[in-house]
Amino acid sequence: MTTVLVLNGPNLNLLGTRKPEVYGNTSLADVEKMCQSEADKLDLELVFRQSNHEGQLIDWIHEFGREVKAGNSIGAVYNPGAHTHTSVALHDAIEGAELPVIELHISNVHKREEFRHHSFISPVARGIIVGFGVQGYPMAINALHQLSQHGN
Ligand code: DQA
Repeated sequence: MTTVLVLNGPNLNLLGTRKPEVYGNTSLADVEKMCQSEADKLDLELVFRQSNHEGQLIDWIHEFGREVKAGNSIGAVYNPGAHTHTSVALHDAIEGAELPVIELHISNVHKREEFRHHSFISPVARGIIVGFGVQGYPMAINALHQLSQHGN
């Protein structure tokens, strides 16, 4: 079965308790359930991962770049958290692994502090979903699936 990776970066394990006025009350475990039901609808196998460590995230991006090349995966929905605004290494990992990525943010980062307005990930993302709350996750899985079917 073809996989879809949903990858979450630092602090997203705190979802549901961290700044609920910004990120809502839904936990990451609940987000996983939402992603599972979207993946089921699309006949995809969900791989759902979270890490607070940049190197671990880079290794997973490389792994799934290889999986996409082998025809086993359609790519990743990726919420890079604060790495969005800091990490050249994650930019280079996505580019180097040629992993199709939908960048996702729960909050509308453009309505927030100026340091959240720049993303190192956007130039290497296939598409971006921002500000739809946790509903953005199933939307992003769907969008990645459509890209994988129709190209571009
Ligand atoms: C976030 C936005 C980032 O600025 C922040 O550092 C996060 C979460 C979001 O989902 O809205 O950790 O990526």
